[in-house]
Amino acid sequence: MRNAKIEVEPLTPTIGAILRNVDLAQPLEDATFAEIKAALLAHHVIFFPDQRITPKQQLSFAERFGEIDEPHPVFEAHPQEPRVMLIEQKGRQGVYNDMWHTDVTYQQAPPMGSILHAQILPPQGGDTLWASMYAAYDALSDRMKTFLDGMTALHDFGYSYSGYLLDKPEGRKRLREIEDQYPTVEHPVIRTHPETKRKLLFVNRSFTMRINGLSQGESDGLLRLLCDHCEQPAFQVRHQWRVGDLAMWDNRCTQHLAVSDYYPHHRKMHRVTIRGERPFHAA
Ligand code: SIN
Repeated sequence: MRNAKIEVEPLTPTIGAILRNVDLAQPLEDATFAEIKAALLAHHVIFFPDQRITPKQQLSFAERFGEIDEPHPVFEAHPQEPRVMLIEQKGRQGVYNDMWHTDVTYQQAPPMGSILHAQILPPQGGDTLWASMYAAYDALSDRMKTFLDGMTALHDFGYSYSGYLLDKPEGRKRLREIEDQYPTVEHPVIRTHPETKRKLLFVNRSFTMRINGLSQGESDGLLRLLCDHCEQPAFQVRHQWRVGDLAMWDNRCTQHLAVSDYYPHHRKMHRVTIRGERPFHAA
């Protein structure tokens, strides 16, 4: 019987840990759940190797953390479990998640976390990378921290997805519908994590369109600088998947990217996201 004593093996000094002796097919005792939650807050992305679980069991695990988020406007849903999204790539070059991003920051309240379960993998490649936005914030100079303190930025669905949707039949209509559902939102550039109270850098290349209070040129230049800064290898961990691996990340303090290097092979993941709260900045 697993879930006896969880072993937490950090993968880098900054981000990522493997959790062993956990069987997510079994109901989790409160003490075991508390250890998992503590590992998530400490390491920001946690990996559970070889989990033989159904989509329903993935949802049950997610529900220990909170309510399941609304369906994604672009990803397809699992045919039997509509709250599970399919992230699937088969025989098409280029994917939509191969740019650094924090999930769904075009929502007023982006998810607190996401849980990804590997179903079908290419023979090689298709790794995922995560980066710690605490580390990105900590590494800024004091002058830059002071400059960014209290600033806000606009996050926008179409900024990232318009190209993808416009390539599809009826794409323009669908893009308008989604933009009506998710108008551009404003978030702090420096965010305070609601649980750890640590500060982190909260802009990403996929959805952050504009920093408020600056000219267009200044905003473009500063966003480029900040996104380049966030994507440094020193803030990252990389996971090479095996079928059955499950990863959970704290979406409030990380970014991630799926490497698009496996064309024409097939890769399929099940993703569940957990509702979050409105990002805030505490001075
Ligand atoms: C995602 O972008 O949420 C999924 C990452 C992946 O497919 O590895």
